[in-house]
Amino acid sequence: MSTATEQKMNAPVITIDGPSGAGKGTVSHLVASRIGWHLLDSGALYRVVGLAALQRGVAFDDDDALAEMVADLTIKFVATPGGQEQIELDGHDVASKIRTEHCGNLASKVAAVPAVRAALVVAQRDFRKAPGLVADGRDMGTVIFPDAELKIFLTASAAERAQRRYKQLIDKGLDVSLATLLEDIAERDHRDANREVAPLRPAPDAMMLDTTSTSIDDVVAQVLELAAHLRPVDDD
Ligand code: C5P
Repeated sequence: MSTATEQKMNAPVITIDGPSGAGKGTVSHLVASRIGWHLLDSGALYRVVGLAALQRGVAFDDDDALAEMVADLTIKFVATPGGQEQIELDGHDVASKIRTEHCGNLASKVAAVPAVRAALVVAQRDFRKAPGLVADGRDMGTVIFPDAELKIFLTASAAERAQRRYKQLIDKGLDVSLATLLEDIAERDHRDANREVAPLRPAPDAMMLDTTSTSIDDVVAQVLELAAHLRPVDDD
């Protein structure tokens, strides 16, 4: 019988990185549920940290205060019977609050602080469990799981990503402008790609998949095909 630590080290990982709106979230979710593996939505962690800073009045340019705050947070991903997302910050469900564009922008600000990133490394690696993990983010293949068995980098044009986001938000009944979304995406891309620590880059051994004119179902099928040779590990 293997120990819990060995299972963690052995559990295969698929990393799915890329810029905002490339379809990572949907693809990761569908791939993980099709093969029955765990899912790490690392963006949600940064969004919760951004929300916490806002709620606690911590200045976004005060790196020390942000680092101190992040060390003190209790963030929990809770599995719910209906499969609906539940993410708790200090015991309160914040799953819908963190999905706003505003929170995405706050996330990208706190994510540029090296001490915040460092404080979240262990929590992210803890998601690696039998039978395997699908990890969605910006630095999954480069920093958090450099030994991942399969690395995917999803891209799409900024115009297409803004259009997708627009549709999602309109479908949720939110009043947004496409031009503002495009500006937000460009600003976030720039910050994510140019920060000092873990900038958004494909790992040298990542497979690049452009989703601009490919349906989500086709992208999922491609990832599943690439993942077909990976061997899940047992719990016992
Ligand atoms: O993926 P999502 O849009 O939820 O991520 C929100 C923000 O969190 C990103 O724009 C990025 O700045 C940051 N992030 C990151 N590293 C990750 C995941 C997200 O820097 N692994």
